[in-house]
Amino acid sequence: MSELSRWEDLFREGNLKELSLGAMKVTREHFGNSVFLRGLLEYSNYCSCNCFYCGIRRDNGRVERYRLDDDMIYAAVDSGFIRGLRTFVLQGGEDPEFGTDRMCRVVREIKRRTGDAAAVTLSCGILSRESYAALKDAGADRYLLRFETADTELHSYLRDGVSLERRLKALEDLRSLGFQTGSGFMVGLPGEDDELILRNIRLARKLELDMIGIGPFIPHPATPLRDAPQVPLEKTLLATALLRLFCPRAHIPATTAAGSLEPDGREKMLSCGANVLMPNISPVEVKPHYLLYPGKICLDEDGLHCIGCLGGRVAAVGRKLSFDRADGLICKRRDRVEAGT
Ligand code: 5AD
Ligand code: SF4
Ligand code: FES
Repeated sequence: MSELSRWEDLFREGNLKELSLGAMKVTREHFGNSVFLRGLLEYSNYCSCNCFYCGIRRDNGRVERYRLDDDMIYAAVDSGFIRGLRTFVLQGGEDPEFGTDRMCRVVREIKRRTGDAAAVTLSCGILSRESYAALKDAGADRYLLRFETADTELHSYLRDGVSLERRLKALEDLRSLGFQTGSGFMVGLPGEDDELILRNIRLARKLELDMIGIGPFIPHPATPLRDAPQVPLEKTLLATALLRLFCPRAHIPATTAAGSLEPDGREKMLSCGANVLMPNISPVEVKPHYLLYPGKICLDEDGLHCIGCLGGRVAAVGRKLSFDRADGLICKRRDRVEAGT
């Protein structure tokens, strides 16, 4: 039996102790004690999509919609940069009003202000290959686009008709354009069983991702999935540990959703092989309006305050914060192979 299928069996048995021991060994080999920081900036909560699981879906009329103006974005980036952040993640709904030209302008300006010292990561959903190419040209380094679930039927259903195939094509576009590429999935979606979680993890491995974000699905009361059961965090922890064993070099964040489900959820993910934290540096006025799920933490705190808080939290689990921009290890290796060095 191969090493990986032995780990899969431990996942099926729910043996978190063994899995996390194995996962931490691999994490230390590749990243030492470091936990890398990424500043998350939620620039718009308008979305033309209607994903069944998401609190800012188009049909949720109770959301107060906002779109940050350019200067608010730059102000958040500047204060994050001064505090030492070297990656900025611009995340938003699929907001056609915030067009590609505007995003290119914003990316160019962030790169101008920070030199090339900071990496810019985008998370703006499915766009045309041409738009992705323009964003890359403007200087964007990385792109996050979770595939959400590896099951084609569940995917089309939960994403209101958008196919998994379309999502994967977008990921392929991104990769072929030279983006450091991130994807991932939620754990505990209705209709999901352990075998589907294993398929999610195998797909993440197959995609050779630089970054893989996973987190617990948390039912939002203003969505069609409001009555879905809350799957315990333990399932996400098992999945995190297995993911680390399947994808040793990927950057894996300890996600805010985990910290929202349990007060020390992020620390638990770190102890299962996660190596990234993403403090939310959005202006405090807009934070409560970007609620993909209920109970989201850090809504009243400034992102810079969170960095201090996170320092204490990682120290408590024997790790230390790193302000390195920490590029993807997978794409670096791919570049070397292509250059023949
Ligand atoms: N619970 C947890 N995560 C969610 N996301 C969207 N809605 C929810 C929810 N209700 C995740 C999706 C998306 C990411 C930005 O947030 O995976 O890709
Ligand atoms: Fe829009 Fe993303 Fe929410 Fe889907 S998950 S409705 S694409 S913000
Ligand atoms: Fe935001 Fe602790 S991480 S307050």
